[in-house]
This record gives sequence, C-alpha cells and structure tokens, in this order.
Amino acid sequence: MNVIEVKNLVKKFGKKKVINDISFSVNKGEIFGFLGPSGAGKTTLIKMLIGEYNITSGEVKVFDNKPNRMDESLSNKISIVMDNFGLYERLTVYENMLVFKNIYNTKKEDIDEILKKVELYDSKKVITSKLSKGMKQRLLLARALINKPKLLFLDEPTSGLDPQTSLKIHSLLFDLKKRGTTIFLTTHNMEEATKMCDKVALLHLGKIVEFGTPKDICMRHNKNNMFYVLTKDNQELVFKSLKKDLDELGDLIKNNSILSIHSSEPNLETVFIDLTGKELV
Ligand SMILES: Nc1ncnc2c1ncn2[C@@H]1O[C@H](COP(=O)(O)OP(=O)(O)OP(=O)(O)O)[C@@H](O)[C@H]1O
Ligand SMILES: [Mg+2]
Repeated sequence: MNVIEVKNLVKKFGKKKVINDISFSVNKGEIFGFLGPSGAGKTTLIKMLIGEYNITSGEVKVFDNKPNRMDESLSNKISIVMDNFGLYERLTVYENMLVFKNIYNTKKEDIDEILKKVELYDSKKVITSKLSKGMKQRLLLARALINKPKLLFLDEPTSGLDPQTSLKIHSLLFDLKKRGTTIFLTTHNMEEATKMCDKVALLHLGKIVEFGTPKDICMRHNKNNMFYVLTKDNQELVFKSLKKDLDELGDLIKNNSILSIHSSEPNLETVFIDLTGKELV
C-alpha cells in the first residue's frame, strides 16, 4: 500500500517554481529519503505533505486523504520532527511530554517507556532550555512518538549532531521501521541516506533527478566498471570488467593473494555532487 502518493506536484512561491511537476510514492514500512541541496525545496515538500502549505497544482495523498492539518484522523497517524516545531523551553522534559500526552490521550506509562528509549529518562526533571542540542533533538523525537505514529516526517533529524547521537537516532528509526512505521526524512548527509533509506529521491531545480535504492543509484552511475585490488605483496592493480581481466582476478583470489578489493561505483555523495554540481551541505 502507498502511504504517500504524489502526482505532478507543482509549488510556486510568487512566480518562483520551487517544485516543478514531481511524482513519487512511498510504500508502507519504508524509510524514504528526500535529498537535495540547500534551498531545493525539501522542507517545502514536507509542509505540503502535512497540509501546512497549499499546493499550486497536482495531487498529494497521505493515507489516501488530502493532507489537512485540521483533520484529526490524519494527525493521529502522523508525527513531525522539524526544527521549528518548538519545545516548551521553560518546562521540564517530562512536562513537555505530558503536554503532548494530554493532546493524544495516551497512557502516562508510555512517557517513561519512550523517554527510556531515547535515553532521556534520567533527565526527565531537567528544564528543557538546559538540554544540549542532541538531547533536544531526542526530546523532539520522543514527543513525536507519543501518538504511536504510522508515518513519521523527519526534517534533517541528525543535522548538526555528534556521531554518537546520530547513531542513537538511527537505531531508534530502524526499530520503528521494524514495527511497521513509515518514515519520510530529509537529509544532507549521504552516508546517512545510504545507511538508512530503502529508497531516495534527489531533488534538483524543482525536479526529481534520481530515484531508487541507494545501491541501484550508485550502480547506475558506475561508468568505469573497474575493480581496484591491493595484493598482499603491496601491488595496486586495476581490472576491467572483461573476461580476460576477471580470469586474472579469479587467479589472484584462488591464490589467496588479495589484501583488499574495491569496485569503482561512486558513493551517493559523488553521484549527487555530479548531478547537482553542488556540495550537499
Ligand atoms: N513561505 C515561503 N515563502 C516564499 N518562499 C519560500 C517559502 N518557503 C520556502 N521558500 C523558498 O523555497 C525554496 C525552497 O526552500 P526549502 O526551505 O523548502 O528548501 P530546503 O531544501 O528545505 O533547504 P535546506 O536544505 O536549506 O533546509 C527556497 O528558495 C525558499 O526561499
Ligand atoms: Mg529545509
């Protein structure tokens, strides 16, 4: 089943077309990554998917409905983590969770369970303004889990976080995916996209210029089709994908002479810099 369905979507701000006729769908249980350089329109797209921005033309469906922030049946199934969805800075971690619990009418015990999951249980009495950036991000995520969303939107969930906090968030997201949650995230971090996403779309100048699994995309851009080999006697060899070369490579493998072997497909970052001409910072 498609949780998100986008057809011929266009978004203009004044005369400026930010999204120019894009179509894609997201399946249930998928982690879908929306990538693109700064200003590409990633946040704008999320805002259209949650009904915060009107669309200029085309069609957007989330759980088969047109997104509308006022629609309770939709907001019960969806959660959003964005920078500007502010926390109550003067309340404690626990109180921030309570505010949301009361909106969604979930059990109090759920709060403790979620706080443990994001490793904020020991900080539940801390005033939010005193939390570090990574802790605040984890609190945003914790808050987003209170309604047990079927679909989670994350706008750059690990941007500016240290690698350890990013890892914690990644493992949490994998955990949610295992339980069937669909996750739609945006990121600049291509390593993150490669590791986390079942599918990615790259937005550039209003269009989707690449779409697919990170692996397929990299393989499609493997123009050289070569293998780089380092042998145990420290020779660096290059083989092409030809019978003669592959036979020779086979011999090296049989003789147990190889220390390392790399194929020449680019990583996602290289592909996207090639396609957009920009660093994805
Ligand atoms: N409310 C708005 N009114 C006018 N223009 C807007 C509005 N929101 C976004 N834009 C413009 O739309 C374009 C896309 O912005 P958006 O914030 O969606 O990009 P992004 O891909 O999320 O970038 P970043 O990676 O920096 O977060 C930008 O040119 C931005 O100036
Ligand atoms: Mg953005």
